[in-house]
Amino acid sequence: MKNLLIVANFKSNLSLNEAQDYLNYFEKAYKDDQAKDIIFCPSYPYLFFFKNRTEKFKKVFIGAQNVSAYKEGPFTGEVNGRQLKDCCSYCIVGHSERRISFSEDKSSISDKLKNLEENNITPILCVSEIDELNVFQEGKQNIIVAYEPLSAVGSGNPSNPKEADDFAALAKKKFGCKVLYGGSVDLGNVANFTSKDNIDGVLVGGESLDPQSFIEIINNAR
Ligand code: PGA
Repeated sequence: MKNLLIVANFKSNLSLNEAQDYLNYFEKAYKDDQAKDIIFCPSYPYLFFFKNRTEKFKKVFIGAQNVSAYKEGPFTGEVNGRQLKDCCSYCIVGHSERRISFSEDKSSISDKLKNLEENNITPILCVSEIDELNVFQEGKQNIIVAYEPLSAVGSGNPSNPKEADDFAALAKKKFGCKVLYGGSVDLGNVANFTSKDNIDGVLVGGESLDPQSFIEIINNAR
């Protein structure tokens, strides 16, 4: 049986009060006995809060949504890998929203991957096309790939599961990595993706913001 990864990407959402309410619900409703790793990716200010509140669950982990392309130094507003490693074990990199709105390109994404690798943080590299995988370097393959077609992200219009599985098969063959699917995943369609042979889990945006929906996504994934 696959150990599925279910990632919640909260994007730029949730205040501290809302995060408290979220975790109050999650703590009561979540069953920590499934073959599924849950990864919460809140905004930077709440990483420690989520980490502290979920430490009691053995299959719940924390991820950041971004990391600096630079190491320590005079880079106001940036957060580097050495700072992140105390509060998370995963980090999303190259999300299409960052590629589009913050001009992230192959060079900055590859610097971010290096910054994470040096600090033993596992990248969740978001790609919408197979060519975007060419940031992989030889021997540096401790990366989880999230296949997120642009037309599926935040649109309510998910990809065809067979097409996502074909992408995952190709990426796995080339790089031996785990592959997630992301883009309009909800409690009704999650199993269509996670039941595919080559898909190791899902990256959930909008539908992870409601803890009740997110719990159902976790329970329905198989
Ligand atoms: P969505 O977002 O689930 O809201 O489509 C997915 C993502 O952006 O990672």
